[in-house]
Amino acid sequence: MNEQTQPQRKPVILSGMQPTSVLMLGNMIGALRNWVYLQENYECFFCVVDMHAITVRQVPAELRKRTLDVAATYLAAGVDPNVSTVFVQSHVPEHAELAWVLNCYTGFGEAGRMTQFKDKSEQHSDNITVGLFTYPVLMAADILLYQADLVPVGEDQKQHLELTRDLANRFNHLYSPTFTVPEPYIPQSGGRIMSLQEPTKKMSKSDSNQNSTIFLTDTDDVIRNKVKRAVTDSGTDIRYDSENRPGVSNLIEMYSIVTGTSVADVEKQFEGKGYGDFKAAVGDAVADYIRPVRTRFDEIRADVPTLTKILKEGAEKAQHTARRTVRKVYKKVGFWQPEDK
Ligand code: TYM
Repeated sequence: MNEQTQPQRKPVILSGMQPTSVLMLGNMIGALRNWVYLQENYECFFCVVDMHAITVRQVPAELRKRTLDVAATYLAAGVDPNVSTVFVQSHVPEHAELAWVLNCYTGFGEAGRMTQFKDKSEQHSDNITVGLFTYPVLMAADILLYQADLVPVGEDQKQHLELTRDLANRFNHLYSPTFTVPEPYIPQSGGRIMSLQEPTKKMSKSDSNQNSTIFLTDTDDVIRNKVKRAVTDSGTDIRYDSENRPGVSNLIEMYSIVTGTSVADVEKQFEGKGYGDFKAAVGDAVADYIRPVRTRFDEIRADVPTLTKILKEGAEKAQHTARRTVRKVYKKVGFWQPEDK
């Protein structure tokens, strides 16, 4: 084929979410909404990262259920399985294979510097596993297997992306170009949605206080109530200042994103109004934003045969690409293959 007839390779995206709970507003705003709009111009792989989930203890039946919940949420948010490859991480064993190799190229101190490991080992101090420690290496394997150019994530994943880039560069320099060095794609606004109850902490799907987090399965009334009860700061006006007034600033950011209004326009719109009026408007706007996702989720989640078919086909497609990378890597590190003789 000459250059003119060769089809242009679309740049590749990989991203994933842990099925530790149903997804929440931070996952949607920080990552999932970007997946949906990027999928037209990229070749996308979106996985449900169940292998990451077991780095902290899970109830097996719950994990199975959440895996399907998360896959259904991807589709409900607008990920199109005819355009993007949607699959479950543990269905493609190459993730574990590459993770092992990369573990052998990661410094102990390097892994120890990961802030998410430090945070999570504090949260789970009774059960700090080696898996939790090497979690970012598995994440690097997820990304590098597909030769991803871009990784759309929230801000909390930035450090893991830097490690991924370091590992890719290290391997490429030690041997020869093997991995694409990926770039993170973190939204300027909404990369870090904060907890409604403790606005200096990020909103998390595994927060023990349910009122801190707006789940994508919450009903309109539950959403409105959670927003109404959100902790705000002393002061009365609706003004963005994330440093000194994290509570109201978080609500302003959420409102700005879900309504597509700039922060300056939100401030103008609510000039002279109090927290009560503002919270009611935020509650309504977030409920409007989540409602269509929840409705589609209920439909998609009810049709398990279709969901199963999508995930099976997705895993086959993903494995095709993943296998190619593992084969290349095995050769470079010196694993003997029968065809070597
Ligand atoms: P996870 O499951 O914690 O979160 C999924 C995605 O949601 C983003 N996110 C947020 N964005 C804004 N505000 C928040 N409060 C918020 N909370 C979470 C996360 O940044 C993420 O993009 N390690 C990853 C999963 C993973 C992965 C990967 C991601 C495993 N392998 C490969 C990308 C590529 C994680 O725990 O995400």
